[in-house]
Amino acid sequence: MKNGGRNNRLREVAIGLFSAAVFVALFYLWGEELLPRAGGRLGKIFPFVGAVALTLAVALFLTEWFGFAGREVRKVRLAARDFLFLCTLSLVLLFLARWVVELLPAGSAWNRAIPSRFYVYLIPIPAFAMVVRILLNSEVALLFTVAASVLSAAVAFGRWPALLFLLISGTAGAARSGRIQDRYRMLLAGVLTAPVCALGAIALELAFHGAERIWWAGLFGAINGLAAGPIALAILPVAEYAFGYASDIRLMEMASTNHPLLRRLILEAPGTFHHSVMVGTLAEAGAASIHANPLLCRVAALFHDVGKVVKPQYFSENQAGGANVHDVLTPGMSRVVILSHVKEGVRMAQEHRLGDRIAEIISQHHGTSILYYFLDKAQPLIQDRRASEETFRYPGPRPRTREAAIIMLADTVEAAVRSMKSPGQDEIVETVTRIVNRAYLDGQLNECDLTLRDLHSVGQAFGKVLTAVLHARIDYPESGKGPPAPGGDTPLQQPGK
Ligand SMILES: [Fe+2]
Ligand SMILES: [Fe+2]
Repeated sequence: MKNGGRNNRLREVAIGLFSAAVFVALFYLWGEELLPRAGGRLGKIFPFVGAVALTLAVALFLTEWFGFAGREVRKVRLAARDFLFLCTLSLVLLFLARWVVELLPAGSAWNRAIPSRFYVYLIPIPAFAMVVRILLNSEVALLFTVAASVLSAAVAFGRWPALLFLLISGTAGAARSGRIQDRYRMLLAGVLTAPVCALGAIALELAFHGAERIWWAGLFGAINGLAAGPIALAILPVAEYAFGYASDIRLMEMASTNHPLLRRLILEAPGTFHHSVMVGTLAEAGAASIHANPLLCRVAALFHDVGKVVKPQYFSENQAGGANVHDVLTPGMSRVVILSHVKEGVRMAQEHRLGDRIAEIISQHHGTSILYYFLDKAQPLIQDRRASEETFRYPGPRPRTREAAIIMLADTVEAAVRSMKSPGQDEIVETVTRIVNRAYLDGQLNECDLTLRDLHSVGQAFGKVLTAVLHARIDYPESGKGPPAPGGDTPLQQPGK
């Protein structure tokens, strides 16, 4: 409740900023033409009344439009940052639209051969819609396209053909830019958008103005589509840097083992790196089985335990063959060190600008699960086990996205299966089911959108991967009561035991 209230307030602030920015933009865009005419008698007393009224209308439209979708459409959950991002994009598009429609024809050498209305077909909305889909999602891209089309069409003197063209071309751009993982596909998305833009422009020209010089409209539409890829490629890194997003292209770059954090992990905590690769393989398969984002899962899994490089020897996967440092520590001390890897991981992700999606997954990958191993170890010293359970819990938050939940499950499953000696297929399936059920019953999945059917599919995908890749590994200590701590955060038995 507390979080919800804070988010709502942040949204209000964002909407306020949005409205103010739109006000300034409208004032600049319409200033001279609109203000002297607007407001009637009131306009004589308060010359800006037209701009204020228009700003109010636009702010109403945007708040209703995005507010309704934010409340009722499952995948439209816009944080304050997203509002600001969409607002900034809309404003940049408004200014570009004005430049294209009014200033470009005036400066063009061919301004006599080409009617100025054709320049509407150059408004670069496909590129902007592509960027929104790549950084947010399809639903938000559609909402953005409609809102930005209405506003940009107003700049183009409110012409019907302009509005229809912007809706057609923006939707076409967004529709062709799903799962863009490299620059080539980005350019290809633009190339595939071009025919739709060209056809749309020709059809609208024919419908509203006749066939004269119609090919110019087609050519402008095609140029708009072709330019969408390069323009989106130019906007993406700026948006990623300024707003903390990570596109799939950026995720692909981060997945390279040349990334300084991964290089550190390989050299200083090789066991953790190996564990992370396995978690990534599992999570990727799990995500693919329910149409979540497999690439995000794989890359986030690579970084999920990066905080362990601060004290690698305290984690089981890096202790093979060595002494168990937890033998000389109290369970309380061990708990502090183990819990700190989440906070350290988030800090490092922010330092290296891995993007908010990765940082959030790192912070949520253990949810509020219990460190059973150390709770069991502390058992003789505690009076009330229930009360102590709270002390031995990770601080959370619990996974809030499907991808974060899949990584949490993959992490726990990998740690559990790693400890089993040559498990058969039935044992693997039983372990996966037990871990998924326990996470569900413990309430760890209460804040994410995974359905029971999704959980079943993810569990099956894990089972398939594990059966394919598993080989016998080291033993896991018999705790008897509790499950293995996720991510191999529990010290191993001493070698030889
Ligand atoms: Fe972890
Ligand atoms: Fe882990």
